[in-house]
Amino acid sequence: MLNFNFPIIALAPLAGYTDLPFRKVVKKYDADWSISEMINANALKYQNEKTLKMIQKNSNETPYSVQIAANNAEVAKAAVEVLNEYDFIDGIDLNVGCPVKKAIKSGYGGNLLNEPDNLSEIISTIAKTHNKKFFSVKMRIGFDEINGVERAKLIEDSGADILTVHGRTVKQMYSGETNYEEIKKIKASLKIPVLANGNIDSYKKAKEVLEFTNCDGVMIGRGAIGNPWIFKEIKLQRSITKEEKKDVIIEHLKAMIEWYGEYGVILFRKHLHTYSKGYQGASEFRTKVNAITSSKDMYELVKEFF
Ligand SMILES: Cc1cc2nc3c(=O)[nH]c(=O)nc-3n(C[C@H](O)[C@H](O)[C@H](O)COP(=O)(O)O)c2cc1C
Repeated sequence: MLNFNFPIIALAPLAGYTDLPFRKVVKKYDADWSISEMINANALKYQNEKTLKMIQKNSNETPYSVQIAANNAEVAKAAVEVLNEYDFIDGIDLNVGCPVKKAIKSGYGGNLLNEPDNLSEIISTIAKTHNKKFFSVKMRIGFDEINGVERAKLIEDSGADILTVHGRTVKQMYSGETNYEEIKKIKASLKIPVLANGNIDSYKKAKEVLEFTNCDGVMIGRGAIGNPWIFKEIKLQRSITKEEKKDVIIEHLKAMIEWYGEYGVILFRKHLHTYSKGYQGASEFRTKVNAITSSKDMYELVKEFF
């Protein structure tokens, strides 16, 4: 399913960005593994339309994991039982890193790093309950103090098959350097595959991080926004051409409209803001983009600009 004979290049979950159309494009351009945006385990219980739409998978997306956030074993078990009903889901990922206030207050995401017994119980419960091909965990290296090796061992011992490590503490949020040293220590202490995550934004950086940490792969989040071809570039170890990039942008727009209808045009604006970075006339382009509501006009503008 995930072949660890070669380094895995995975797309990180990014709430608000890595929806089905974005993942479709990223998979086409050589990402090995993609994960849904974070889904609250409680929401899965009710299986409302919005949540069910969020767990859907593209036909080109195998292997695909759904990421859940849970603050206790009972809730996690109920969510996994729902996901077990959907055969197209290949894996389940548990969020052990989300730093937002709501997560910490409700006790899920990064807060679990403060509650090792609860974390262990949630992981062993998911490991026992799921009927998927694999179960992964995505963690940070500590809450405020760094204790990544200790927590990573607990995660492995509790039954996770794969671990992704974002090399920051929860308290750091998204600022400061990524601590690749701690990721390297974690990799050296575990038997299960470990993926490195944090600030990988070019094919050169991916290579450096893989060599330094000795990890089994890398996971890329923000570095893929406005840059979904990065996965292909990592495999080729070179940049792709401007013409190829134009094709990808048009494909992304098409996928947005297929998935969201005309509303996809509005949702695509934020992606165009990033795609246009560094292009001459980007500022006027963005002003025009913000005024467009029809897919026909958007196709025309995008084809003309890039
Ligand atoms: C806008 C945004 C949304 C995110 N959403 C999620 C999420 O749903 N689940 C998760 O595990 N991490 C989430 N993250 C964290 C990323 O997956 C990743 O761990 C972090 O951004 C560091 O990697 P990067 O530097 O490659 O982006 C999010 C980050 C950002 C910036």
